[in-house]
Parts: sequence; C-alpha cells; structure tokens
Amino acid sequence: EEKYTNVLRPGYKWYGDIFMLTNFLDYAEPIKNFEVRDDDVWVSSFAKAGTTWTQEMVWLIANDLDYEGAKSLLINRFPFIDATCVLDFNNYIRYHPEFKAPGFMSNPINHLNNLKSRRFIKTHLPWNYLPLQIQAQTTNAKVIHVIRNPKDICVSYHHHSRVVEAARGTLEDFFKLFMAGKVVYGPYWDNIMSYWQRRHLPNVLIIKYEDMKKDLPSVIRKVAAFLNKEIKDDQMEKLVQHLSFEQMKKNMSVNPVTMVNVVKQCTKDVYEADGSFMRSGQVGSYKAEMTEEMIDIMDKWIQKNTAGTGLTFN
Ligand code: A3P
Repeated sequence: EEKYTNVLRPGYKWYGDIFMLTNFLDYAEPIKNFEVRDDDVWVSSFAKAGTTWTQEMVWLIANDLDYEGAKSLLINRFPFIDATCVLDFNNYIRYHPEFKAPGFMSNPINHLNNLKSRRFIKTHLPWNYLPLQIQAQTTNAKVIHVIRNPKDICVSYHHHSRVVEAARGTLEDFFKLFMAGKVVYGPYWDNIMSYWQRRHLPNVLIIKYEDMKKDLPSVIRKVAAFLNKEIKDDQMEKLVQHLSFEQMKKNMSVNPVTMVNVVKQCTKDVYEADGSFMRSGQVGSYKAEMTEEMIDIMDKWIQKNTAGTGLTFN
C-alpha cells in the first residue's frame, strides 16, 4: 500500500468510518452545522462518479437553461463545500509558498454563507456527514446523488490521483487501496449506500452515470421533474449537445484545466503529471486497464455488496 504515494496529500487516515485527509476534523463539524436553505440544490457523489457532468446538467436545468450564465466557472456557480478536505492548500503552500488558494476554495463555508440564493452545492461526503438539517430532513433542500459503477470509478480515481495529486503507483496499488476503503471518501459502499438507502425520501434523487450515457434526455427529464422544471422537446437537443463529453472537454467553464495546471505547476519539481480531468468519459473503460483477475475480484465484491439492496449497475 505504501507504494502508492502521493506528493500533495500525505497523511490520509481513518476518521472512524471514513478515510480522509488529516485536516478533515477541522471541517466535519462546521459542515454538519452548516445553515441549509430550503431552495439549496446539492449534488453529491463518490469521487469520479460524474459529479462535474451532473453539476452542469443540474445548474442549467435549475436556471432555465441560462447558457450565458453558464459561461462563468462551474466551481464558482457550484461551490464544493468539502473542497478543503480534499485539496489541502496548506500542503500545496508547503511546496510552493507563492501559491494563493482562491477564497471559495480556501474557505468554501464562508463563501457559501455569503452567497445569494439559489445556491448550488457539491459534496462527496456520505449522508451521515451532511449538514444535520438535511439528515433530519427539516429542510426542503434537494439532494441529487450520482452513482457510477466502482470498476470505472476505481480506474478514473487512479488517473485523477496521478493527475491532480501527483500520486505515484500503479493501478494495482490503487485497486488494493480502493477495495480496502483507503481512498479519500472511502469506503465506496458506505458512501453510496448511505444515499441509496434514502432514495425514497422526497428531497432525494438518485441518478446513475451509466443511465446518463445511455439515455441522457431521460435523466434530464427526471432531474427537471425533481426540480419542478420542464425541458421542452425543442430545448433538449441543445442541452444534450452542451453536456456531451466532447463539448464539456472543450468548455473551459467546466473543465478544471486551470486547477489541474496549478497542481502540475506545484508538483513539477517532484513529479511529471500527465493526463487530464476529462479523460475518457466512457462506461467500461476499466476493461482496457484492469486484469481479468482484478475484474473478477471486483465483480464478486459488487455482487456481495449489492445483494438484496436493489442497486444494479448496467
Ligand atoms: P473518466 O476518468 O472515466 O473519463 P467527477 O466529475 O465526479 O470527478 O467525474 C469525472 C469523470 O466523469 C471522468 O471519468 C470524466 O471524464 C467524466 N465526465 C466528465 N464530463 C463528462 C461528460 N460530459 N460525459 C461523460 N463523462 C464525463
């Protein structure tokens, strides 16, 4: 396991049932006590489940397809409340003192407190770490959770770690950590099942990456209905086009190229990062990288963990 080292994020560890960075406890309580507003829209997911894709879809639907407004950066329109738990800027600064974290990244909670409604909020935290008002359902805030099959997540997360965290180590090293729950936001099953079990709550909607790939208009209609919006047939084509992998890759408002470049810059002395955030955008890209043995182990693991839950991956 130690072979899978990470330049930017040494110091991962267990905090009870969740595997996080050493600074997690500074944020866990403030996030639990965060003041939720009834019209907030939250997008939650395990890392690499298609969060960015879902955020752009949700934002456009909720904002009546305001393509002009969507030209501003997604990270501003849709702040990541637990960003500081993932991107340890103090650690960046240790390597590169000249690096200045943007305000919304270095203190997303303050930033969100000062934002006008309607707010859009991203999180990778499991349900039991969400604001208590959401957990108790004393708010009408809506939560849209996107699920993706763990084989593609594992491969995507491995690449992500190599690109934006200057991780070294092979897919095999990462695979072992992933299965053991020892990746940030792990264990995978605890995280996604914490939402899946609440799928019948009126303010919770679960969508799947695989369904978005197969039939995006259907998912768009489902999300629109959940947000009390309507997407007309003549608006659908443009939206689907805007949300395509090719468009999103080109779209510098959603593709976090700048962030990735900052990280690459920060780590260039120690590590030559390669790859990009918008990597493959496919279902089943794990097949090109996992060995038969890894696939077999993971298939059995999926079977065991989904048995009796009603959750399936197509
Ligand atoms: P891959 O690494 O498999 O390509 P997140 O936003 O949760 O970090 O998820 C990132 C994953 O979603 C990446 O997966 C990325 O390529 C994929 N993705 C981003 N935008 C997409 C889109 N418009 N269509 C399909 N996949 C997309």
